[in-house]
Amino acid sequence: MNLDALPRKIYTDGATPIEKAERLSQVFGGPELFIKRDDQLGLTEGGNKTRKLEFLIADAASKGADTVITAGAIQSNHCRLTLSACVKEGLNCRLVLEENEEPQYDTYSTGNFLIYQLLDEHATEIVANGTDMEAALERAAEEERSRGRVPYIIPVGGSNAVGMTGYAACAVEIASQSEELDAPFDYVVCASGSGGMQAGLVAGFASMNRRPDVLGMSVIKPEKDQQALVHKLANETAEHLGVGAKISRERIQCFDECLAPGYALPSDAMKEAVKLTAQSEALLLDPVYSGKAMAGLNALIRDGFFQENDRVLFIHSGGTPALYAYAPFFHEK
Ligand SMILES: Cc1ncc(COP(=O)(O)O)c(C=O)c1O
Repeated sequence: MNLDALPRKIYTDGATPIEKAERLSQVFGGPELFIKRDDQLGLTEGGNKTRKLEFLIADAASKGADTVITAGAIQSNHCRLTLSACVKEGLNCRLVLEENEEPQYDTYSTGNFLIYQLLDEHATEIVANGTDMEAALERAAEEERSRGRVPYIIPVGGSNAVGMTGYAACAVEIASQSEELDAPFDYVVCASGSGGMQAGLVAGFASMNRRPDVLGMSVIKPEKDQQALVHKLANETAEHLGVGAKISRERIQCFDECLAPGYALPSDAMKEAVKLTAQSEALLLDPVYSGKAMAGLNALIRDGFFQENDRVLFIHSGGTPALYAYAPFFHEK
C-alpha cells in the first residue's frame, strides 16, 4: 500500500493524540482504554470526515472541479466539514440536506446547521425525508453543469474508495503510534455509519498484517446488514490501494447494541455514555455517532467481551457540534 503516490491535501498538522483513559478504565475495572482524538482533526470543529476529505478534495482538484456537491442529514458532520474544506480551497459547495423523519430538538437552529449558515448561507438546500439522495445529487450536478461549472459529487459520508483511504492512512498512523507506546492494541472501536471509517481501518490494518480487531458500532443498520456493507467497502478500499489479498468476512465485526431506537434518535444508554465520558475524562462525545459508539463499547465491557488486560483504542470521531442541537434531551430527567 503506497499512500504517498495518491493526491492528498493536508488539513491536520501531524498525528492526532492517543490519550490513556485511566479514569474511564477504572469505572469498569478494565480493559485498558485509550482514546484517539480524531475530534481534534483539522477543518471547522474537526471529526472523522477531515481524513476522508484530504483525499476527496485533492481528487476533485486533480479532475479540475470547481464545485463540490454532497448530501447528508440536517445535522451532518460530513456536510459541515465538506463545506469547511471548500471554503478553505475557494471551491463552490452545494449541500443537499434531508429533513428528519420527525423534528428533532434544535436541529434547525444550532449545532452543524448554524455552522453551515456561518460558513456559507447559500450552500444548503433542504429536501423532504425519503428523497432519493443519489438522484438529488445528480440533479444538483446537472444544474451546475448547465451554469458552466465542473461539479464533483462526494457520496453521503464520503464513503467511496478515495475517501476511505483516509482511514487506511489512520490505521498506519495508529500502528506507528502504538510502536512509540511500545504496546500494540488488541481492539480498535469506532462508530459505523456509512461504514467508511471502519472499512478504511480494516483495509489499512489488513495491508500491514496487523492484529487490532476493528469493532464497528452500528448507528444506522442492523448488525448483519452493516457487516455486509463494511465488508464490501473494505474490499473496495483494499483494491483501490493495491492490497493483494481479499479481506475475509470474518475480519468484519459489527455490533448493534447501541442502535436503538434508530439513527440519530437519542437513547438513555447514549446519554449515560456521554455523561460518563464527560465526567471521567472531560471529553465531549456527540449524540449520533461517538456517544452511541461509546454506549456500545460500554455494553460490550459489561457483557464481559474483553479480558481485563486487553488494550482497547476508542476512536473519538468528533461530531461534538451536534451535542448542542440535542441540548433539550440532555436536560430531560
Ligand atoms: C462524528 C462522526 N463519527 C462517526 C461517523 C461514522 O463514520 P462513517 O460514516 O465513515 O461510518 C460519522 C459519519 O458521519 C460522524 O459524523
